Amino acid sequence: MNLPLGLSSLALTAKEAALEAAKILKNGFKQSIKVSTKPGRQNYVTEYDNQSENCIISSIKNQFPSHQFLAEESGLSYQIEPEEVLWIIDPLDGTTNFIHHIPIFTISIAAMIKQEIVCGVIYQPFTNELFISEKNQGAYLNGKKLQVSSTKFIKDALISINFPYDVKDHPIFSIEQLREFTLLGASLRNLGSSSLALAYLAAGKLDAFWMNHLYPWDWAAGKLMIEESQGKLTFYPEKENLFTTSTILATNSQLHPELLKCIKH
Ligand code: IPD
Ligand code: CA
Ligand code: CA
Repeated sequence: MNLPLGLSSLALTAKEAALEAAKILKNGFKQSIKVSTKPGRQNYVTEYDNQSENCIISSIKNQFPSHQFLAEESGLSYQIEPEEVLWIIDPLDGTTNFIHHIPIFTISIAAMIKQEIVCGVIYQPFTNELFISEKNQGAYLNGKKLQVSSTKFIKDALISINFPYDVKDHPIFSIEQLREFTLLGASLRNLGSSSLALAYLAAGKLDAFWMNHLYPWDWAAGKLMIEESQGKLTFYPEKENLFTTSTILATNSQLHPELLKCIKH
């Protein structure tokens, strides 16, 4: 696999950790998978989520013992204002796919310094797609520089969304916007892995991404991927927050204003 030259020690460490954890997930995928539930609807976890997360954290700690972590299964290991690098980790993004033996999921790892994501790695084990981005250095897929698509019109766009399931409790999880996208002629997809969708948007495979109720580990690495491939990403209606969920619109540079108008209905 070709890699961009001159990766920082943070990016190299994240890449090594992701490749190591991928072995656990690939092996686990072949087994019968024991599923547990977490609070909330359709919120599942497997032993492989935990094993992958432990592997990633210990691999990073080996290199950087003083760094801090915000990881999906083990939570926070840091003060509100971390002095050190904060790693934001989703050890298996796409657990529902994994449980159903659908090989579409990733490992997503980002490093943040003073509220800014400085590097991100997203790895899809079954297709061997390794996405790496570094602040001001671009985003790469297996060593090839990424650029978002140039699709101009919603009617031609392929948009990644998640389907609403609790519209009553969370009106922003509205089906109205999905209806509007459909009426405007867009093709909609739910890949079941938000980090993979963001990476595919960065790679120009998708044209836009609109998802709600995403945790920081779902979007952290992907956000930098989008910014480094000349895409545009907006947290809506509130700005991002590491302590709660967010709604995100991300697009190529062309579609942002029109799609923003649609979702603000
Ligand atoms: C989920 C996936 C999915 C998104 C959900 C996330 P998980 O992450 O990213 O695409 O729609 O909101 O929770 O639970 O598989 O890590
Ligand atoms: Ca996730
Ligand atoms: Ca996860």
